[in-house]
Amino acid sequence: MADTPFLTDVKTLRDRARQHLDQGAVTPTYKGDVSKTIDLLQSVLATELVCVLRYTMHAIAATGISSEGVKSEFAEHAREEQEHMMAVAERINQLGGRPNFNPEGLLTRSASQYTEGTNLVDMIKENLIAERIAVDHYRELIRYFGDNDPGTRILIEGILVKEEEHANDMHDLLVAHEGRPMLKE
Ligand SMILES: [Fe+2]
Ligand SMILES: [Fe+2]
Repeated sequence: MADTPFLTDVKTLRDRARQHLDQGAVTPTYKGDVSKTIDLLQSVLATELVCVLRYTMHAIAATGISSEGVKSEFAEHAREEQEHMMAVAERINQLGGRPNFNPEGLLTRSASQYTEGTNLVDMIKENLIAERIAVDHYRELIRYFGDNDPGTRILIEGILVKEEEHANDMHDLLVAHEGRPMLKE
């Protein structure tokens, strides 16, 4: 709108803040669609939950020569995925939603898959695939949230950076265990 000032004056800000206290962190400058944002974050929550489960299972089940280093890497990723899970659940709550932890339908809500893998290399590959799916999914969400919901965007940006690191970690492990570079020179 042409007549909307760049910055809202303090009095209006104060008056507006007093209204709709039931909406918590969602204020009139929130340009996103709150219920759509909550839906999208439910899918991120499910993705993170599936990642927690998969990495935890792999951390326990990984066996074989030189599996110890890989096991601890899986365990570390499981912890970090859990932090993501908590942060996303908190955000859903801030926006007035109820984080969906229901195991029923979890895989349908999640972007990444739960694949156990039969050996160490398969496990690493499955995790790399899951990380690549998460990276793609989160990049799209960041573009979608843009300036309409900077809070959610920044949250997902932080998670994206971690997932890129995870993908890189899995790629490095794969190279180490397959004994050859996976990427074309
Ligand atoms: Fe994650
Ligand atoms: Fe990850």
